[in-house]
Amino acid sequence: MVPLSRRGFLGSAAAGALAAPTVPAWLRLASPVAIASANGVKAVELAVQRMNEGWRPVDAAVAGVELVENDPEDDSVGIGGLPNEDGVVELDACVMDGPSGLGGAVAALQNIKNPAQVALKIMRHTDHVLLVGDGALRFARAHGFTEENLLTEKSRKKWLEWREKRSSIDDWISPEENGEHGKEWFRKFKHKTGTIHLGAVAANGDVGSCTTTSGLAFKLAGRVGDSPLLGCGNYCDNDVGTGGGTGRGEACILANGGSFIVHQMSLGRSPTDACMDAVKRVVRLTKVKRLLDAKGRPDFQIQFYATNKAGQFGAAAMFADRFAVCDGSGARLADMACHYDEPVK
Ligand code: GLY
Repeated sequence: MVPLSRRGFLGSAAAGALAAPTVPAWLRLASPVAIASANGVKAVELAVQRMNEGWRPVDAAVAGVELVENDPEDDSVGIGGLPNEDGVVELDACVMDGPSGLGGAVAALQNIKNPAQVALKIMRHTDHVLLVGDGALRFARAHGFTEENLLTEKSRKKWLEWREKRSSIDDWISPEENGEHGKEWFRKFKHKTGTIHLGAVAANGDVGSCTTTSGLAFKLAGRVGDSPLLGCGNYCDNDVGTGGGTGRGEACILANGGSFIVHQMSLGRSPTDACMDAVKRVVRLTKVKRLLDAKGRPDFQIQFYATNKAGQFGAAAMFADRFAVCDGSGARLADMACHYDEPVK
């Protein structure tokens, strides 16, 4: 019998030739691997520690991002997240578990600082995938989550500054400004996006992933970004790997970033190449003038992250940026591949 190479094993698994892939001992990774956005150095470190203790990758991923959700200084996630245009913090998150193929998600959740934990409960305690708004809050209450005010003084002051200056700097757009024949339209005030995505691979090749966020700062109430949408801000397939995104959620939704990355890897693309394929897809799909800069390039940042079952990882962004990773060499920041080799304006 000809032994399968690592490449051959991945190739046939990706093609669905192995219905229930088990990883032979000789294919065990030297260490679990976790990848995240740049705000997740401690998160990837904890996720790898948990996987070394035998935790399932999805649980390890949620444990990692919880550190960031609980940090009031990170204004993109959990407590301290920047609020919507009404000054209310609304959180989005989703989780996906490779071995079971199940996912859970929550959107526009108020008053609960750990939406990724709520998403995990939805995955494990319901037949549904996504709960939103008040129903999601009632579900969280039923599972014993504690309600608290998520708007910190720092975030309230940033919201107030935006509120006082807003006039032409909100997200309400006229049809004349929109569409491919619309006018050029430059935001006077760039809306901040921030999020944490974490993709995790256990030493046996099982994968799990999670994305959590307070979404676009000062968004319209009820706006849902890519983070709680499986296939957009987060996706995984236990035969292939994980894919996720941060940055402009609307662009990630329209490109189906997460599932596109995983699909590209199933065709044999490396994690970095799959992420860059997703960036290029966003560039191709961004056609309206109001989203282009004076050089005709998308005027926003988007970042994609990927891991595969072999423990390879990679990330790519529209503009230069960094990502967090932890493997046998420890937790660190690394440069992403970038489509435009300059920092985002
Ligand atoms: N990527 C986070 C958001 O747009 O909500």
